[in-house]
Amino acid sequence: MLNRFQFARLRSFRRAVKIDEQSSRPQVAGARVVCIASGKGGTGKSVMATNLAVHRARLGERVLLVDFDAGLANAHLLLGLAPKFDLGHVLDGQASAREALVEGPAGVRLLSGGVGRQSLVNPTRRELDRLFRALRPLENDFDLILIDHGAGVGYSTIAHLAATSTLLLVTNHEVTALSDGYAIYKRATVVNPDIRVGLVVNRAPDEHLAMAAWDRFRGAANRFLGHHPELVGWVPADTAVAQSVQLREPVLLSFPESEAARALVKVAAWTPLEHARTTSAFYEKARRALR
Ligand SMILES: Nc1ncnc2c1ncn2[C@@H]1O[C@H](COP(=O)(O)OP(=O)(O)OP(=O)(O)O)[C@@H](O)[C@H]1O
Ligand SMILES: [Mg+2]
Repeated sequence: MLNRFQFARLRSFRRAVKIDEQSSRPQVAGARVVCIASGKGGTGKSVMATNLAVHRARLGERVLLVDFDAGLANAHLLLGLAPKFDLGHVLDGQASAREALVEGPAGVRLLSGGVGRQSLVNPTRRELDRLFRALRPLENDFDLILIDHGAGVGYSTIAHLAATSTLLLVTNHEVTALSDGYAIYKRATVVNPDIRVGLVVNRAPDEHLAMAAWDRFRGAANRFLGHHPELVGWVPADTAVAQSVQLREPVLLSFPESEAARALVKVAAWTPLEHARTTSAFYEKARRALR
C-alpha cells in the first residue's frame, strides 16, 4: 500500500512523464502563478509560502516555490535545504532555471533567492527582463508556482504584481502592518486592475483582533479606493511556528495538529489558488510590465 506521500509523488511523477511525452508539441502557459507579498517585513510571508507549497504538493500538485526575496532569501532555511544555485546564478547565466531547482519536503521544488547578492537587491530593467526570460520555461513544468516576495513595493515585486492574476497579501493585526498592507494593495490594483487579492491576517493573538484588523483594512480600502480584497482567513500566533522554524521544517509537517497548521491548511484551500491563471504566459506578461 502506498502512503499519502508516496501516492502524491506518484501522481506528480505521472504528470511529469505526460509533460515529457508532450514536449514536442507546442507548449501553452501551464502553471498557475500566485504572488505572496506584504507591505511590512516579517509578517509571515515565507512561513505562509513554504507551508502552502507543502500542502499543495501533498495534494499531488507539482509545486514550485520561487524565493524572490532577492538578496535576503530564507525560504531554503524554512524548508531545511542548502541549494547550490540561486536566482543570482540564473541571472548571471551560471545555471539554467531548471538546474537551479532543489527538491524539498513533499516534492516541492525551490528556486532560492540568494543571500547578499547585490545584483538581485536592485536589479535593472534589463537584468529583470533577462531573469524573467530565463524563468519562463518553468511554467511548463509545474501546476502551481508560488512567488515569495520581499516586503514592500520594490520594482521587481511591482512587475510581478502587474502580471499575476492572484495575490496573497499577508498582514499582521497591528496598525503599522495594516497601513503598509493597504499601500501594497492600492499599488497592486493600480498596476493590475483585474488582480484578485486575498488577505491573510497572520500571527493574530485571537480571532477578535484578527477580525477587527480585517474590518479596519476593508473599511479603509472601501472608503479610499471603492473596493476591497477578499478575506482568506487568519492564522493565530502560535509557538509551534517558531519551533518549526528552529527545526527547519514547515509547521504543517512538524506540528500538523497545532492551531497554526490547521489555520494554514484553511488558507491553502482558498479557491482562487485553484484557478489562478493568466491568459498569457506569466513571465511574458511580467516582461511586458517592465517596458
Ligand atoms: N503564525 C505565527 N505564529 C508565530 N510566529 C510566527 C507566525 N508566522 C510567522 N511567525 C514568526 O515570524 C517570523 C518571520 O516570518 P517570515 O520569515 O515568514 O516573515 P516574512 O514576512 O517572510 O519576513 P520578510 O519580510 O523578512 O521576508 C518567523 O521566523 C516565525 O518565527
Ligand atoms: Mg520572507
